[in-house]
Amino acid sequence: MFFDDAKIASRILDIALTARQNDVPMCGIPYHAAESYIARLIKAGKRVAVCEQLESVPSAGSSIVKRDVVRVITPGTVIESNLLGSDDNNFLCSIYITKKEMGMAFVDVSTGDFFYLTADKNMEIFRGEIAKYSPKEAIIYAQSYETDTIFTEFIKSRNIPVHTLNEWHYEKEYMTEMICQTLSTHNLAGLGIESDIEIITAGSILQYLRDTHKTVFGHLKNPMKLASRDTMMLDEATISNLEIVENQQDGTRNRTLFSVLNNTKTPMGRRTLERNLLQPLVLRSKIDERLDLVDFFYQRAELAEEITIHLKEILDMERILSRFTIGKIQPRNFIAMKQSISASMKIKKIIHDCTIDNSMLTPLYEEFSDLSSLGETINTVIDDDPALSPEHGRVIKPGYLPELDKLYELKSDAKQWILKFQEDEKVRLGINTLRVKYNKILGYYIEISKGQSERAPKEYFRKQTLVGAERYTTEELQKFESDILGAADKITDIERREIEKLRLQIIEKSREIQMTASSVGYLDFICSLSISAILNRFVKPVINDNNYISIKNGRHPVVEKYYTKEVFIPNDILLDDSGNIINIITGPNMSGKSTYIRMCAILQLMAQTGSFLPVESADLSIADRIFTRIGASDNISRGESTFLVEMNETANILNNATDRSLCMGSCRVYSPLYKSENTFCHTLS
Ligand SMILES: Nc1ncnc2c1ncn2[C@@H]1O[C@H](COP(=O)(O)OP(=O)(O)OP(=O)(O)O)[C@@H](O)[C@H]1O
Ligand SMILES: [Mg+2]
Repeated sequence: MFFDDAKIASRILDIALTARQNDVPMCGIPYHAAESYIARLIKAGKRVAVCEQLESVPSAGSSIVKRDVVRVITPGTVIESNLLGSDDNNFLCSIYITKKEMGMAFVDVSTGDFFYLTADKNMEIFRGEIAKYSPKEAIIYAQSYETDTIFTEFIKSRNIPVHTLNEWHYEKEYMTEMICQTLSTHNLAGLGIESDIEIITAGSILQYLRDTHKTVFGHLKNPMKLASRDTMMLDEATISNLEIVENQQDGTRNRTLFSVLNNTKTPMGRRTLERNLLQPLVLRSKIDERLDLVDFFYQRAELAEEITIHLKEILDMERILSRFTIGKIQPRNFIAMKQSISASMKIKKIIHDCTIDNSMLTPLYEEFSDLSSLGETINTVIDDDPALSPEHGRVIKPGYLPELDKLYELKSDAKQWILKFQEDEKVRLGINTLRVKYNKILGYYIEISKGQSERAPKEYFRKQTLVGAERYTTEELQKFESDILGAADKITDIERREIEKLRLQIIEKSREIQMTASSVGYLDFICSLSISAILNRFVKPVINDNNYISIKNGRHPVVEKYYTKEVFIPNDILLDDSGNIINIITGPNMSGKSTYIRMCAILQLMAQTGSFLPVESADLSIADRIFTRIGASDNISRGESTFLVEMNETANILNNATDRSLCMGSCRVYSPLYKSENTFCHTLS
């Protein structure tokens, strides 16, 4: 790295900054350790352009070799497992804002997930979506970057690096072409991408992927439109106040609703749980369907247990598939894929057996593709314990290719041949110090000590003279060497060819693998909800259409599970659209007011995620939104005081709540009697 890059990198990586002629600042890292240094730069929010030499030997007459940028690694586009760190989604986000509307798209290139939405230009929706997906990097239309600064500032305040793309990319025809090419379709009709905003947001994110990976992606899932009629929109304050997937103390998963409900066994399951907790359902039929599925496994604990055993064998199929698609694979990835396919097929069989007397599981069963023949193929081609690469040892299974087996035989016979050749020569020439040896510079050679070297016959060509010995070769030894080296090269070539063939076969089945991986994720998510219901004594809620919430002996799932010093005292909730529109709760400090209103919101959210509830009984209607205005917080770095944050959150509730919304709020009232927070909790009508 040179100039300013060198100055920045040397600080982040803590490496020496040196200088070349004319005082050009410079710093470098060892090539073999590049990945760990790159990981640190990415973590610091930087982008790293990897420039490689593209020719092995300089072309005749020229000492300049061709070099080019082969990849730009950025926080939102990483695919390498050691740079990703965890199995959480790693989203890249693209934003396009017009006078009245805004478009957002989210892609996780490591799993292939692709979502997009168009909404009214609204800061609350924007903040909610950013909080929901926690993108690691954002790209924004250059003009929006300059004119809609509050959006950009918000992203920056969450420490998300923001970039702009060349303006000429934002051309509708060009973007349409880009989407069709990437997703291999002739037109956008089948994808549901309709408006100009959708085309531009979806297209620009694909353009950025192409700019950074220097390739067209074939493994992205078809983009999924996020519509407010299917799922509940949660705002940033609610996601944070209810500690759904991150706690407010250290931002980790500990002591969150996620941690109570998480019994998933696969990375796909974990991601599905997180996504569904942040996208509660709003359609009764969908909620009932999911609750019934959870109930199915709740009633059959041994079945859930049996499935769980197989789920544990499934690795991150989505991410492995991404690596196959972009060609960054190690032979061990084949074994991981084989093992995951085999376990998924066992689960498919179990689900199939269940569908015989229960049609509820049929849709889930149908999502599982039949990948058994692909699993078989991998098993036949790849060794059960393959080497790190063909250069390191055997990858293709013995018995698969006779031609390859012969070459391996030749290679392993080589030792025997050399020993025999050495002994024969010793006897023939009567030189007892004669040895056949090998080094990288000379290859195979015959070494004879100085004292006996006079006896070397004339067919021995001298290769090297040392102080105490002479080194020779013969025509026979040279032929042997070229056969052996030829065999080693041939082995590597054949193995590479077979690996590539199998890689293409796997890519051909991308869609099926993705569908299976999603089904595994969904099943894992459902089983996880059933298992937590069993472990935590949760009860199936009843969903009604009558605009009331009636909960008997409700408990806060997180406080109950982790605050074990005292037994949690259950409380009832009754809210309806006549006499109980508003509940006002007052009481001294530490009496449980905040916990109570958080519990109301969390129980509602859990029910609409399809989870059972920590209650004696629950009968609740569907809320279109859940709003929370709890606790005092400020955000000085965003220029928001405590009062302003509270006012913004309250304004958001008043502007957006409908007669189907559940609203929670607390405010501090100073009275001569109580210096306490008085809390209100109501539904608006
Ligand atoms: N139903 C309950 N059963 C047992 N413990 C509870 C219950 N509700 C709350 N707690 C515990 O009581 C403590 C106080 O709860 P909380 O913060 O809700 O009180 P508060 O009334 O909002 O207080 P403040 O007025 O200071 O805001 C917490 O440690 C919480 O874990
Ligand atoms: Mg409180």
